[in-house]
Amino acid sequence: MNAPVALKTLPGQPHIAYQNDGLMVEGVRLSDLASEYGTPLFVYSKAAMLSALGAYQRGFAGRKAQICYAMKANSSLAVLQVFADAGCGFDIVSGGELARVLAAGGDPAKVIFSGVGKTRAEMKQALQIGIGCFNVESEAELDVLSQVAVSAGKKAPVSLRVNPNVDPKTHPYISTGLKGNKFGIAHEDTLRAYRHAASLPGLHVVGIDCHIGSQITETTPYLDAMDRVLDLVAEIEAAGIPIHHIDFGGGLGINYNGDTPPEADMLWAQLLAKLDARGYGQRQLMIEPGRSLVGNAGVCLTEVMYLKPGEQKNFCIVDAAMNDLPRPAMYQAFHQIVPVTPRLGADAGDSVLYDVVGPVCESGDWIGRDRQLVVQAGDTLAVLSAGAYCMSMASNYNTRGRAAEILVDGTRAHLIRQRESAFDTFALEQLV
Ligand code: LLP
Repeated sequence: MNAPVALKTLPGQPHIAYQNDGLMVEGVRLSDLASEYGTPLFVYSKAAMLSALGAYQRGFAGRKAQICYAMKANSSLAVLQVFADAGCGFDIVSGGELARVLAAGGDPAKVIFSGVGKTRAEMKQALQIGIGCFNVESEAELDVLSQVAVSAGKKAPVSLRVNPNVDPKTHPYISTGLKGNKFGIAHEDTLRAYRHAASLPGLHVVGIDCHIGSQITETTPYLDAMDRVLDLVAEIEAAGIPIHHIDFGGGLGINYNGDTPPEADMLWAQLLAKLDARGYGQRQLMIEPGRSLVGNAGVCLTEVMYLKPGEQKNFCIVDAAMNDLPRPAMYQAFHQIVPVTPRLGADAGDSVLYDVVGPVCESGDWIGRDRQLVVQAGDTLAVLSAGAYCMSMASNYNTRGRAAEILVDGTRAHLIRQRESAFDTFALEQLV
């Protein structure tokens, strides 16, 4: 046998590290959490969330900027509470998300409401609660929002989401700023839409926004989008419509598998230099980051149930599945999978190439393909970078209750969501 498996920090995840013989999140041993709470289990590091937020806060020091956490990435109440307590606002896309913000103690005045299909009921609810801004995505939506506001005796603060037609160079399903996407108002229609908005009795134009995609790992698409948005601001203001704030959306990527996105403060140093050069550096700025605040703050623990060797493939069957971790099935996404307690003494010769799959009855139910692992049934694995777009996209497919969630803060582990029972999954149903 060769030397023991190296014990180390995991790249891009400073708060998740091997210490002695096991993987820890901050000061908490993951094997202890798996035994106490069972698997699959999501575990998040509060310090990791705050340090990701810190990079943005450093980047914006001395500027007028509001960070609105895009809560679709992870909308668990205690996660929202971390960001609300740190002074963040929230980017929401439904009345349900607004209800969560309120339940978590978020400030409604710091809420911006994005999305192409807001209902009248959602608009009314948001107006009554007094959110900060509606990010409107079509001219038809302007008309409806104005009607709803007039009948509620309110003026709706609006920003128009413009589609800058910039390629964010990411997966097509998470690219949103190109002409063929359903999002935003086309660049060439923007001035007309602003004139329309300014003419409507129930609206008050306050800003402009754009969001070009997600898991963006390069700086250039942001710089290009910013140029286009600033050209539009100049045009709109020349037409006599003042723009109070500029919102550059979210989208900054994380390191899943050797990805090298810029750090948030580095990205913003470049973007702010452009804003300064063009004379917009002292404007009120908004951003809507999601993944980059929570993605690498979370892991999903899962137990190896069966090893199933085969002629073409060896399968490592684990108790987490596509209903818990939908990203591989939906986007062929890569999440690193590592042992929680590496088998000491194991060398490369003991490792086997596996497809790591879940129990769901679909061939698309895989968590990782062609992974070299040293495992036995009963071992616990950690699926990394599972803080964003995992639990928030989880489903009950195959009548699987959703996983429990833990928030680690130093040496304390808080259960922030109980595991759903089978009964919970059909509690709202009834027989005829
Ligand atoms: N603002 C708007 C208007 C958005 O549509 C999104 C994400 C964000 C902000 C936050 O983007 P982020 O900073 O997280 O990249 N489920 C996919 C990602 C979908 C992103 C949807 N919009 C995934 O798992 O990769």
